[in-house]
Amino acid sequence: MTSIGRHFLAFILDVCRQTRIARAIMSILSPLLPTPTLNNHHIDRKQPRHVVNQVYDKSMEEFTAEVRALFGQPLDLDRLLEYSGKLREEYKEKLQSSSISMLPSYQHTLPTGFEKGDFLALDVGGSTFRVALIRLCGKKENGDSDMQIRRIRNVVIDEKIRGLQGEAFFDWMADRIADMLAEYNHINGTTNARLPMGLAWSFPVEQTSPRTGKLLAMGKGFCATHGCEGDDLSELIMRSCNKKGVNVEMRAIVNDASATLVSQAYRDPSARMSLILGTGMNASVYLPTTALARGKFGDRPQSWFDSAKHVLVNTELSMYGKNILPVTRWDEHLNATHRLPDFQPLEYLCTGRYLGEIVRLVLLEAISTAGLFNGQIPEHLTEPYSLDTRTIAAFESDKSPTLATASAGFLSAHHLSTPPRPSDWHFILILAQLVSRRAQAYLATSLHALWVLRTHEEGLQPNCTSSHVSIACNGTVAEKYPGFLSGCQKVLNELCEKSGAGTSDSTVKLEMSPESSIFGAAVAVCCLEDP
Ligand SMILES: *[C@@H]1O[C@H](CO)[C@@H](O)[C@H](O)[C@H]1NC(C)=O
Ligand SMILES: *[C@@H]1O[C@H](CO)[C@@H](O)[C@H](O)[C@H]1NC(C)=O
Ligand SMILES: *[C@@H]1O[C@H](CO)[C@@H](O)[C@H](O)[C@H]1NC(C)=O
Ligand SMILES: *[C@@H]1O[C@H](CO)[C@@H](O)[C@H](O)[C@H]1NC(C)=O
Ligand SMILES: *[C@@H]1O[C@H](CO)[C@@H](O)[C@H](O)[C@H]1NC(C)=O
Repeated sequence: MTSIGRHFLAFILDVCRQTRIARAIMSILSPLLPTPTLNNHHIDRKQPRHVVNQVYDKSMEEFTAEVRALFGQPLDLDRLLEYSGKLREEYKEKLQSSSISMLPSYQHTLPTGFEKGDFLALDVGGSTFRVALIRLCGKKENGDSDMQIRRIRNVVIDEKIRGLQGEAFFDWMADRIADMLAEYNHINGTTNARLPMGLAWSFPVEQTSPRTGKLLAMGKGFCATHGCEGDDLSELIMRSCNKKGVNVEMRAIVNDASATLVSQAYRDPSARMSLILGTGMNASVYLPTTALARGKFGDRPQSWFDSAKHVLVNTELSMYGKNILPVTRWDEHLNATHRLPDFQPLEYLCTGRYLGEIVRLVLLEAISTAGLFNGQIPEHLTEPYSLDTRTIAAFESDKSPTLATASAGFLSAHHLSTPPRPSDWHFILILAQLVSRRAQAYLATSLHALWVLRTHEEGLQPNCTSSHVSIACNGTVAEKYPGFLSGCQKVLNELCEKSGAGTSDSTVKLEMSPESSIFGAAVAVCCLEDP
């Protein structure tokens, strides 16, 4: 093309730049046109600065429509049912053989709600250690079970504590336990009765009995396993407690997903599943032992098999869904640049660590290809994982037409030198909704698949009352993300109805389970005691 021809074309396009047709032509011809810098320079001389626009591949309307389709289309109910069927096949396969998911615990009974007693509960998480004295009171006259926290201490686990090696870490724990007991003055009254203790351990452990397990690398900067990896966790804690003369006895070790289920089961006899949904995720389900291949149970005494009809299974649900749940190009990018690609596909779509990140990746593309924020990149937004899920959650809870609170929150973390247009903020809201709705739908689908599996394994009809279950929930996303749990519940209801459960809203019910780890550690102690 001649230089005159090029300039003529550029002129025509300048004139009708704001129209869709021009933009379409532009996107086809732009490789032939002078560079955008030259082009802008050319316009600069003729027009006031504020109407100068960079040339983008598409308009925000077009981009929004594309994003809506990519995130929304896979959520059609019939498609979700199809994914649920495939997920169930994947679960069944792993119930037969897998060393990393669908892992049976030693827990084979759930509480009745009549158990009574005082227990010491320990909850070791990534950033806090909690010690609590729990009293289980059994059933009240109205039939509700009662459990009380009589005393609780939260201790921050800081860098220094994380750095404690081997025995030093367990000595530190024993000191905190001793402090608690001294405060409660337990030792005075019952010197010869050892207080039964349960531990909720939010780290990997290879369980060897209901009350013992091999310590595995903890990650998250902890050095406690230094020199004692593979040692018995119970013994390590008890050795430190005995050294200090602390009168306790370790009776149960549970992971947080199991703890959540048993604690809810104490109050609600229909609790059969649990869901942890925070930065990460996990779920557990109570299944007949016949649902798992014998090889999955590893070495356990025959007596365990003789008494166990059911077993609490740690699903490691985060690992499912690869090549089943449709993803977008932004999810593909997230996976490809992840430290562990393909490791936890469902987690990459649903949890607190990733919701903000998916939104961030879409925003960066909207900025460069469709002129969001006038093409300016907000401060820090190019840094991976810099957009906190809380920042986008704020858009969903902000009911003001201008999104004033949410946008101020965004700007305080990601400064912009020129103020964005109201439509830019509105786009973030739409995007947050699309990303969180998809997470709710996929999560509901994977829970639905688990429910169908359990119903089949129990030999139940989906429309009978014994197929009704409640799912005990915990975690920051479940608790705090606006509308998350109710959105997930809505999809679950629709899916259950489609699979023959009838129109009852209570077929599968998501229930928040307050203080689930601490109560669960205590309840686990008493449902491990064989009657
Ligand atoms: C518990 O024992 C300590 C030390 O023997 C004593 O000082 C304290 O008064 C006792 N408390 C009660 C309530 O008996
Ligand atoms: C399951 O997922 C939860 C939530 O992220 C995590 O804390 C836990 O360590 C995982 N595994 C087990 C065995 O609990
Ligand atoms: C995830 O990323 C890895 C590494 O780039 C790639 O091999 C794999 O195919 C990706 N998975 C999917 C489902 O796209
Ligand atoms: C449940 O479904 C089965 C099979 O579809 C049907 O025969 C039965 O009558 C239903 N029961 C109830 C309580 O609706
Ligand atoms: C959820 O579990 C975590 C530990 O996994 C615990 O610290 C937290 O208190 C629980 N949240 C609720 C609302 O019970």
